[in-house]
Amino acid sequence: MIEVQHLTKQYGAFTAVEDVSFTVERGEILGFLGPNGAGKTTTMRMVTGYMPPSRGRAIVAGYDIFEQPIEAKKRIGYLPETPPLYPDMTVRDYLTFVAKIRGVPRAERRSRVDTMMARTHVADMAGRHCGKLSKGYRQRVGLAQALLHDPDVLVLDEPTAGLDPKQIIETRQLIRELAGNHSVILSTHILPEVSQTCQRVVIINHGHVVAVDTPANLTARLRGSETIYVLVDGGGADVASALTAVPGVTSVAVTGTDAGALACEVASHTGHDVRRDLAAAIVGAGWGLLEMRPMRMSLEDIFLHLTTEDSAEQPQIPEEHAVHG
Ligand SMILES: Nc1ncnc2c1ncn2[C@@H]1O[C@H](COP(=O)(O)OP(=O)(O)OP(=O)(O)O)[C@@H](O)[C@H]1O
Ligand SMILES: [Mg+2]
Repeated sequence: MIEVQHLTKQYGAFTAVEDVSFTVERGEILGFLGPNGAGKTTTMRMVTGYMPPSRGRAIVAGYDIFEQPIEAKKRIGYLPETPPLYPDMTVRDYLTFVAKIRGVPRAERRSRVDTMMARTHVADMAGRHCGKLSKGYRQRVGLAQALLHDPDVLVLDEPTAGLDPKQIIETRQLIRELAGNHSVILSTHILPEVSQTCQRVVIINHGHVVAVDTPANLTARLRGSETIYVLVDGGGADVASALTAVPGVTSVAVTGTDAGALACEVASHTGHDVRRDLAAAIVGAGWGLLEMRPMRMSLEDIFLHLTTEDSAEQPQIPEEHAVHG
């Protein structure tokens, strides 16, 4: 449905986006995750045809966005970073105007506008001037505007920015519903957003794609070594050395105490399940094993590993899952 091939954007001598490639299937929600300035908005502007690339191309619903822009744009709904509202128009007039230029037949315009206002929860603001809307309402009207012509492809640049928590949940729900027969690219710098909404995530930093995978796979693949949390009661200073002596354990870090018990993070080689031996060592020494659980890397950790320069010492994504820019 969307094919992005080697997109590159240079602003003068500065390369904002370099050699970005990915695809989005029908019905799929792709998360575009990266810190401020990573190149998310720049990529979305190129994919939607609002800005020409320096190199590369984007094919949307079978049409090259730069060679057949009219056909391609008919099939795209775009929520830009700043929704393009006309301040002096009321919400209803603005959406009706957009429906008209988007080619919605006259007879259907009113009902289409009403439906979209209801879906995006802006009906109570129908008579308000766009220029007088709060940030959250501007964002919702922006979303309504992107959906009016029922496009195959939705490109949403930070769709939940500025919304209150209830609206964030409703908007994510709406996006998931839309995904059924639409393809969605959604940019965000909020990690929970991708794990809650997206099937696949492209992580971008400094204009380069650093990883493409499912949120779950990224988490699993990045666990180069396993870390297990244990809470040991009654062992005192001997705990660390006793646990280090367990076969397969590579390091033990005492991270704190919990009501007199010692909290430790025990690292081991991948594929070497040390839990049984750890438990035996602790209980065998006459100590209490109050808690034991694997420590999973959060998407937050993954993101930091992938986007910080000194990630060389950190677990790396295996080659087949890494995409180098
Ligand atoms: N018109 C422009 N001229 C020069 N540089 C630009 C222009 N637009 C963007 N940039 C630069 O390109 C880089 C990528 O910007 P972009 O807006 O795509 O980032 P982003 O990932 O959307 O960030 P944010 O999360 O802050 O929205 C930034 O370093 C930005 O300063
Ligand atoms: Mg942006």
